Amino acid sequence: MADELDEIRSRISIVDLVGQVVRLKRSGKNWTGLCPFHSDKRPSFSVSDQSGYYRCYSCGESGSIFDWVMKTQNLTFGEAVKVLADQAGVVLSKQAKPEQKEVKLGRLAAMESALKFFQAELARSNAAREYCKNRGLGDEVIATWEIGYAPDVSDAMARHLLKTGLRLEECKDLFLVDQASDGSYYDKFRGRLMFPIRDERGSLVAFGGRLLGDGHPKYINSGDTPLYRKSRVLYGLNIAKNALRNDAPVVLCEGYLDVIACHQAGVTTAVASLGTAATELQAQLIKRYTNRAVILYDSDPAGEKAAQRASEVFGAEGLQVKVSLMPKGEDPDTLLRTAGPDAVKMAAEKGIHPVEFKLIQIQQRHHPADEAFWREAIEALTLCKNDLELRTYSQKLAPQVPDLKDPAEAARWLRSQATLALKAKKRQETPETPEVKGRPVIGMKSVEADLFRAYLQPQFRKIIHPILAEQDLFLTLNATDLARAILAKFGDTYPSVEGPILIAHLEDSGVAKLLADLEMTTTSRITHEWVQESISLLRSRKEDRDRNRIRLEGTGDERLDEINKRLRRKHEDSES
Ligand code: UTP
Ligand code: MN
Repeated sequence: MADELDEIRSRISIVDLVGQVVRLKRSGKNWTGLCPFHSDKRPSFSVSDQSGYYRCYSCGESGSIFDWVMKTQNLTFGEAVKVLADQAGVVLSKQAKPEQKEVKLGRLAAMESALKFFQAELARSNAAREYCKNRGLGDEVIATWEIGYAPDVSDAMARHLLKTGLRLEECKDLFLVDQASDGSYYDKFRGRLMFPIRDERGSLVAFGGRLLGDGHPKYINSGDTPLYRKSRVLYGLNIAKNALRNDAPVVLCEGYLDVIACHQAGVTTAVASLGTAATELQAQLIKRYTNRAVILYDSDPAGEKAAQRASEVFGAEGLQVKVSLMPKGEDPDTLLRTAGPDAVKMAAEKGIHPVEFKLIQIQQRHHPADEAFWREAIEALTLCKNDLELRTYSQKLAPQVPDLKDPAEAARWLRSQATLALKAKKRQETPETPEVKGRPVIGMKSVEADLFRAYLQPQFRKIIHPILAEQDLFLTLNATDLARAILAKFGDTYPSVEGPILIAHLEDSGVAKLLADLEMTTTSRITHEWVQESISLLRSRKEDRDRNRIRLEGTGDERLDEINKRLRRKHEDSES
């Protein structure tokens, strides 16, 4: 199929094709004319046989011969391929494979159909509606958060999806159904209150389901699917983003019902990381809307640990963070029921500096006579954002330093230790792409930026393409989104076109500009060894992050158990 598309491309001149509709005039190596997609006064439409693309510099419309036929004749990709194959005299061996973009639209449609089903089932189930009532979820809340119900039947969803004409094989990838050993399909969610998870743009990418009563597991969440990477999604951000501004902090909660309770209480910037450690990508996502965050977790040991980690991850990404633990034994949802909206608002508004928070934790765990106390305290001081903060917290701790009677001297010692520790930490970090004057800011780590620059060169693409699908490999949101857009467009087979054409292919996914900026700043020093080393570096960084998460989350998660085992094996191998 790919070969046939290339064959069609090579036989049809885009200048001839467009020239049938638009009067074109030669201008340098391109042809220009009045743009047919908007009312153009001056010729801003340009077509090139070299690249095989048309582009309007005024309205931004652009594409290939296939896009042209799709847009001007209102056809699907598959239909456009047939029309052009006929013109070019190319015989298609089999039905045109739908383009990745259509696959994605199909998946989103399946998710929306599942949601409609859950919503209809909630209306039908007395038990589920009773449960909502008991938890204070009224009709308005149910409508806003699109809450539904998965009936306690083994294959209700499977049958619904079939009836809607969807392929269960594909719905399996979306975590809606699963397949038994006898080949039959059964529902993933049964007897659960359902919470749809939308990404920040509002696309329905996953679900979470809560048992109506007690039982295990209390919640089931969609695993990662072609639509969903849990590390880059925050529950509620599609709604919270409307209230987010620079001066309004995002409020990070633990669970679905906490977010909903916060919004009910008037804290309309609440989102949740949903039972997993907060990630760098989530921090970068937040930074698109605001620079401030309040972490509002439960005050049990797990919540405290997770809050500490979240404050470090968010702080490292440049967010101004405060930590506000809930009163003992409460979460925003219970607090709203027992103490009312003002109590929730107050909890979301207060909060202490992460360094102070960490120091309190250390005081609870260790005694100042212990070496561990100071090791951790100095680690905490490295989280200070500036010299003033470092001075303040060093002075606070100084009277407790054993052996040093003079507080000023003790504070100086703490500062110097923290500065040394910070230097060591900085050395381990992966640098950001340097900002060269007059060049675009790319907003990636330099290793990521260089890897994509290499990707633009066809000779490296075969090695790099599979890497793009590795889960949670990239450190920045820009790199993650670029990788996803490339995969969404091309799937598993890497595109064999030149860099500029590749960029044109991605035009509609919003990341083309990023890739164009990378192309503009490409250097020639990239080698195969360098590419391999960069990939190893990213992988080892990812393992570091996973290890951190394991320590934090215990071993509840199967995937983490798996990683844990792998790491242990690796460790044993290196010891023997
Ligand atoms: P909690 O156990 O604090 O539950 O988990 P909750 O949000 O207060 O829920 P309710 O009030 O008992 O209904 C916090 C979050 O952790 C995730 C869910 O996202 C949950 O909202 N979680 C929890 C799971 O993914 N699986 C579980 O089994 C439990
Ligand atoms: Mn709760």
